[in-house]
Amino acid sequence: MKIIVTKNYEEMSAQAGKLLAEIIKSKPDCVLGLATGGTPVGVYDYLTDLFERGELSFARTSSVNLDEYYPISSSNSQSYRYFMNKKLFDRVDIDKANTFAPNGSAEDVLAECKKYDELIDRMGIDVQLLGIGRNGHIGFNEPEDELHRGTHLTALTPDTISANARFFASVSEVPTHAITMGIGSVFKAKKIILLASGKSKADAIRQVITGGITTSCPASLLCLHPDVTVICDEDAYSLV
Ligand code: GLP
Repeated sequence: MKIIVTKNYEEMSAQAGKLLAEIIKSKPDCVLGLATGGTPVGVYDYLTDLFERGELSFARTSSVNLDEYYPISSSNSQSYRYFMNKKLFDRVDIDKANTFAPNGSAEDVLAECKKYDELIDRMGIDVQLLGIGRNGHIGFNEPEDELHRGTHLTALTPDTISANARFFASVSEVPTHAITMGIGSVFKAKKIILLASGKSKADAIRQVITGGITTSCPASLLCLHPDVTVICDEDAYSLV
């Protein structure tokens, strides 16, 4: 596990943005595994900036997103599909037909999960960007006795619902369920970049870097993957 500690959120975003841009430049038809939440927004801004300056193109790039609320329509402004369109896809030259996220309005959830895992296997993720929940979740793989291998429907913990309430008018509007890649799906990525910013992530980052490997902190399993880079700011690193 490679660890990069930056001064602040802006530097964390720039470091991750640079790394992703290098990967896209060296393999223009690469498959990006993308994440939502507040943390990667700065990375998406950084990449958009490079695109606007004519220094980066996503024309041949594809993407697969980690997770999506369930049930939710893709046109709902709270959906992760909508988030990705606004924060990145609508701002660069990626072909949206090559961008994928779990279908939050699928009627048959099991079939949707199976289809998504088949898609991941078919496409092969070159680099997976991850944020981290303050309880150590990745995607929506919440702390549990047993973690899932593949894409699955999951109930969000009260802590995650309260953490995500800042994006909604009230906590009661936060969806209680989501479809998420499993830990096994995430581990299929050739390379993983884990981002963390702020003191609220410090305990989770301490566990990932110095703690035991435990399903009660799903991100701690990442130290078993052969190519993980943690990029976090000083606040997120403060308990290590
Ligand atoms: C969300 C997402 C995760 C994200 C995490 C942290 O619930 N499912 O993919 O990494 O929580 O979010 P944030 O970056 O807003 O702190």
